[in-house]
Amino acid sequence: MCGIVGAIRANHNVVDFLTDGLERLEYRGYDSSGIAVSIDGKIKRVRRVGRVALMAQAAKEKNLFGRIGIGHTRWATHGGVTEPNAHPHISGGTVAVVHNGIIENFESERQRLQKIGYVFESQTDTEVIAHSVNHEYLQTGDLFTAVQAACKRFHGAFAIAVVAQDNTENMVVARMGCPLLVAFGEDETFIASDVSAVIAFTRHIAYLEDGDIALLSTKGIEKLIDKDGQVAERKVKISELSLASLELGPYSHFMQKEIHEQPRAIADTAEVFLEGGFEPENFGSNAREVFDDIHSIKILACGTSYYSALTAKYWLESIAKIPTDVEIASEYRYRDVIADPKQMVITISQSGETLDTMEALKYAKSLGHKHSLSICNVMESALPRESELVLYTRAGAEIGVASTKAFTTQLVVLFGLTVTLGKMRGHVSEEQEQHYTEELRQLPGSIQHVLNLEPQITIWAQKFASKQSALFLGRGIHYPIALEGALKLKEITYIHAEAYPAGELKHGPLALVDENMPVVVIAPNDMLLDKVKANMQEVGARGGELFVFTDLDSNFTEDEGVHVIRTPRHVGVLSPIVHTIPVQLLAYHAALARGTDVDKPRNLAKSVTVE
Ligand code: F6R
Repeated sequence: MCGIVGAIRANHNVVDFLTDGLERLEYRGYDSSGIAVSIDGKIKRVRRVGRVALMAQAAKEKNLFGRIGIGHTRWATHGGVTEPNAHPHISGGTVAVVHNGIIENFESERQRLQKIGYVFESQTDTEVIAHSVNHEYLQTGDLFTAVQAACKRFHGAFAIAVVAQDNTENMVVARMGCPLLVAFGEDETFIASDVSAVIAFTRHIAYLEDGDIALLSTKGIEKLIDKDGQVAERKVKISELSLASLELGPYSHFMQKEIHEQPRAIADTAEVFLEGGFEPENFGSNAREVFDDIHSIKILACGTSYYSALTAKYWLESIAKIPTDVEIASEYRYRDVIADPKQMVITISQSGETLDTMEALKYAKSLGHKHSLSICNVMESALPRESELVLYTRAGAEIGVASTKAFTTQLVVLFGLTVTLGKMRGHVSEEQEQHYTEELRQLPGSIQHVLNLEPQITIWAQKFASKQSALFLGRGIHYPIALEGALKLKEITYIHAEAYPAGELKHGPLALVDENMPVVVIAPNDMLLDKVKANMQEVGARGGELFVFTDLDSNFTEDEGVHVIRTPRHVGVLSPIVHTIPVQLLAYHAALARGTDVDKPRNLAKSVTVE
């Protein structure tokens, strides 16, 4: 969602960094952007609705220049998509602020500030930060103490960066619940909400912690106080994120690139288990004791990550024999829950920042769940930091809003967890372990074979492009893959798509089926194949057109109204991972045919940091 950048540079114009950084944050989703610099005793600002390129062009036309500045991409929450609502917000011409997150008590703050005489020009919660900091600054003349005093008033999750009209040396930043990092160059200091914004300039990074307030100069962090008001230091790390993972290379879209990166991403993620074995230590040095202390699992996640959790439930219960509940994080966090200290809470999140998942984890811990594990793709993000154990997927940066390689690598980690727990609990023999190791080793090759089916899937996609709706069916462990297929299609093509367990057809959705309704069936050769075939008959009899993804040995024949694409070989328990690839490709090519914005679908954001 929203993105923050900022810089203080001794020898360069900050505008170049600010616009480049914001372009690199575009993938997170936004609807307006803006930058502000402090120069010659003035704050100068440019804001635009729409793409960062428009705003960058306007900045160029105005010859915007400065050695200190901040920038923002906004995804509207409080107030519509308008220029006055875009950040940075300026108060009294004195201070400029960019902000991620939400100030929950902004209404009472707004009233307080209005009584003092502040006039609001936007509908945002952010403007209360600008006026509040300004008010303190006018009294103290010290930007750091002004931000400190203002932050004490705010409830909610936020990350902010502030510059002042009369100070071209220092910026003040604060973090409470939303990510923010400081990055160090030579005679220049950067800030960003996401490492991808700074990586082209420096790899030396320090992540701020919740409650931190820092004073920055070109030399780095001049002063930092933590949530208790104590002076603190934050470790500088060298980011390993590769710049190539942020570039398109020969591909047309990041989603296409990321679909094709899956053999590599899966191999990198599986390496943890192929090199280190199915050992608890892969999840943390104390994971053996934790896994010994649990009798069940609760998985909390949102969207695509929730579907990986649903898939894992089948593995965890059938292979590791461990009772597993899966819940949508945004629902869990608002219901009465019977907590169980012996139930480990697993959160799954590509970004590690999803607010609902984060709040669900905090809620679970507050209720007495003792153990937590996070499966996440972004190093040092909020969820792993809040969890007892962590295993990172090694998908590399995922830029396309629609999650692809993050999903399949989550499945790899969840499968590794299953075998690890199964072994510890005596349900996976040495022979089975070897078999699973071999399956995992061969998985990237199997995925590559499915990617080679792209031309056939593209032909199908042309047919979907003109449809209003589509139905996805699966059974057992492939039902979550049907859900994922429907989500991918609706997200990037805007075609209405729904997924059902095929056995549910006759309990309602069959009423939708006619010759205009394409029905995608995920039907590999497993114990439910005959049942799925019977369900397909029900569709065929009502004139529905069937598009079946199956594997080589499942004995399907093409017929009038029945199209079949076969994945090259049956891969046993890992079949859901392999069958994800065709539904991703189908959605991608249908979106291309419809001409939608594949990487930045309307109304969606990559990192959902608001409720
Ligand atoms: C769909 C998609 C979303 C995310 C969801 C959770 O393609 O990407 O449904 O899966 O917003 O995001 P994370 O995994 O970052 O918690």
